[in-house]
Amino acid sequence: MITRQPLLEKLQMGDLELQNRVIMAPMTRSRATNPENAPFDIHVKYYKQRSSAGLIISEGAQISKKAVGYVNTPGIYSDAQVEGWKKVTEGVHEKGGKIFIQLWHVGRMSHPDFHGGELPHAPSAINPHSKSFTPEGFKDTETPKEMSIEEIKQTILDYKKAAENAMKAGFDGVEIHSSNGYLLHQFFNRTSNVRTDEYGGSIENRARILFEVIDAIKEVMPENRIGVRLNPSLHGIFGMTMDEETIPTFDYIIEKLNQYNLAYLHLSEPFNDVSEIPYAEKEIAKRYRPMYKGTLIINAGFDQERGNQFILEGLADAVAYGKPFISNPDLVERFAENAPLAEWDQATFYTPGEKGYTDYPKLSVSKLV
Ligand SMILES: Cc1cc2nc3c(=O)[nH]c(=O)nc-3n(C[C@H](O)[C@H](O)[C@H](O)COP(=O)(O)O)c2cc1C
Repeated sequence: MITRQPLLEKLQMGDLELQNRVIMAPMTRSRATNPENAPFDIHVKYYKQRSSAGLIISEGAQISKKAVGYVNTPGIYSDAQVEGWKKVTEGVHEKGGKIFIQLWHVGRMSHPDFHGGELPHAPSAINPHSKSFTPEGFKDTETPKEMSIEEIKQTILDYKKAAENAMKAGFDGVEIHSSNGYLLHQFFNRTSNVRTDEYGGSIENRARILFEVIDAIKEVMPENRIGVRLNPSLHGIFGMTMDEETIPTFDYIIEKLNQYNLAYLHLSEPFNDVSEIPYAEKEIAKRYRPMYKGTLIINAGFDQERGNQFILEGLADAVAYGKPFISNPDLVERFAENAPLAEWDQATFYTPGEKGYTDYPKLSVSKLV
């Protein structure tokens, strides 16, 4: 029986007071099944059901048409999408919750089928040899187009516009998705970025775009409502390969993030076993907690006990839970009661409709007392 639960204590995050430290991790659920890729009623219901989280971080939302890489994912670039998200944020706020939107550009993890036959954009013309989930099912990725400087500048403006739209839609903040092998992460790593201009080569150059994105976004919203997500030891998945400069690159990025007054830094422990990878950092929070001075959210593979332990040991301020939130809309209440958790069904992670989305029940009140 767990008695002291720091996960359930309030957290001051900039000017926001979170009711607890149980964060809902961003999760793509591929339910925006309309031509506009706009959220609608079922999204409102899904996020409302989970509004007792200290903070919800929405699924990745593409910042432009070019940013998309998976079928039925919602965007945050059109008026219809803003209107759809407005209903989501209103629903969550009504229930006393808080919600950030994750700003997403998949870069080379896309497919020409999404772009009228044109190639996806990336820092360099290097195929991740991965799969893209297109309207016709999974297809092999292709060699992307190396972005011109003009296209990089336009993409930064797309992030800014998306952040502006997020504010219009009533979000409490934005999370920049610079993680999991997508566009910004593709700039960081040498195996996906072989540019020779100011966006490639040195560590500083490979990290540059992230800071330009933050600088652009903070023109349209407060810095303390911007979060950044990083996954330093991602190796062998989502087309990412680590080398001896990968961790030094993340060291540089995280040190430099201290110059900003961000809402938080959201880090993932390794997604897979990297014990045999010489360049990988095996303990992300242990390395970066002392380095990062602001609010730190940690993620990946946590249960209730380990989440409480990490906060108690000062390794993180809050813990983001992904899959447990899929099948336990009342995860916070279950933690509070030390109640058992329901299992998630992987088969319905990305399928259309309410099944496996809004039909996971809360624990009945009788079981809670
Ligand atoms: C169905 C599903 C969709 C996901 N989509 C996203 C996403 O849109 N953005 C993101 O940063 N991470 C995404 N992730 C990763 C999660 O945020 C999280 O890092 C991962 O599930 C590990 O945490 P967990 O062990 O608590 O589930 C996704 C994970 C799952 C299971």
